[in-house]
Amino acid sequence: MARFFNVFSLRNLLVLSLALNVSLILRVLYEKDSEVMNGLCLDKKRETLMATDSVPSEAQATETVYLSMPSFSSSSTADSNGGDRIINLDHGDPTMYERFWQQAGDKSTIMIPGWQSMSYFSDAGSLCWFLEPEFAKEIIRLHKRVGNAVTKDRYIVVGTGSTQLYQADAVEPLSVVSASPYYSSYPLITDCLKSGLYKWAGDAQSFNREGPFIELVTSPNNPDGYVRQSVVNKSGGILVHDLAYYWPQYSPIDAVADHDIMLFTVSKSTGHAGMRIGWALVKDEEVAKKMVKFIELNTIGVSRDSQLRAAKVLQVVTDGCEYPTSLRSLFDFAAHLMEERWKLLRAAVRQSSLFTLPEFSPGSCGFLNRSFEPRPAFAWLKCEEPIEDCEGFLRSNNILTRSGKHFGVGPHYVRISMLDRDETFYIFVERLSTIHLRQSRQVNETGE
Ligand SMILES: Cc1ncc(COP(=O)(O)O)c(C=O)c1O
Repeated sequence: MARFFNVFSLRNLLVLSLALNVSLILRVLYEKDSEVMNGLCLDKKRETLMATDSVPSEAQATETVYLSMPSFSSSSTADSNGGDRIINLDHGDPTMYERFWQQAGDKSTIMIPGWQSMSYFSDAGSLCWFLEPEFAKEIIRLHKRVGNAVTKDRYIVVGTGSTQLYQADAVEPLSVVSASPYYSSYPLITDCLKSGLYKWAGDAQSFNREGPFIELVTSPNNPDGYVRQSVVNKSGGILVHDLAYYWPQYSPIDAVADHDIMLFTVSKSTGHAGMRIGWALVKDEEVAKKMVKFIELNTIGVSRDSQLRAAKVLQVVTDGCEYPTSLRSLFDFAAHLMEERWKLLRAAVRQSSLFTLPEFSPGSCGFLNRSFEPRPAFAWLKCEEPIEDCEGFLRSNNILTRSGKHFGVGPHYVRISMLDRDETFYIFVERLSTIHLRQSRQVNETGE
């Protein structure tokens, strides 16, 4: 203990005092108004972590020891790493976007009178008869503005989330593969919903079965964020490009994607996961017809109300790019936030020295007109030796993540959502940065 206090300087005490005061104020604010807290407290947390990132590592360590003293964790006052609070970053729930849409206010509000959108049909004469024309128009407008996908001569098929669209690509028994690490829902959806038609066949890199197959190419990839291309070296396959994360807040837009079947979703582009709206851009008319048929049999179309709301949201996003106002565009807002979050996460990982993260090369973004490193929606974190079970290790620190096991990879890896609300994210990085210190302190205190 004496050695512990020896390393403290007056500066450390000031940091402690600041942290405690901030925690107390924040607690009061949080209980009064959690929105206010998002703005205030998190700025403070950000400063603390950024500051520790720019001072020599010895000082970083002592500062963070203060913030994670057991007495603060067990007190009723929230400390800067959230005390015992469970931080759940298992799901990719895009709640970080709420702040943008709150700031946008009524711009994205729509009113749907009781008599509207009553028919099953949105546009009875068109190939995708349940697609709202207004939504189709806004999809094209947005892709043209961002430059991330070809829309000319493409059929648009709307789905209840892109999850439904991914199931709608074929009507004969098929093997479905994706290179590992792959999005953890692919095997579950494939084997659960259409077991007679599809069979999950695992890692695309080792796929060598005879017969037709679907390869899902997710780019940028969930969970590891890397840009991908198809890997199966066989003919007779259908390629489905899941481009849920090919938006400028996550990835430099360096080419206009031009694949046969491309999937997008509002869940990750605008943050409206609860709307359950996705769309496919499809080159081949017959494929588009099959997808429409599947959705017709599955859910008799897609909520028209949700499509109208999605149309409005996309319109606000594109307007924000075309006619800049005092409100930043959604992509500006989210790109800055993601950039800052990745800096903080990397700083925390460096400080802890128990983990590693993927490294990315910068790319030039035609939409934002600058070059930057990808900042994926998920962090693919690796626990270094001697930690074997990364998910279990983080869970013992009250951080919930998804194990690499679900992505076709081992338990050394976890996937962590980067899209949660500010408060949750900043508590998470603070806590991550102090894990080794807390654990080594526990060991020292018990004399082991
Ligand atoms: C690669 C990928 N595709 C699709 C989805 C699901 O999108 P939706 O909410 O539109 O069903 C996700 C969600 O995390 C995803 O990561």
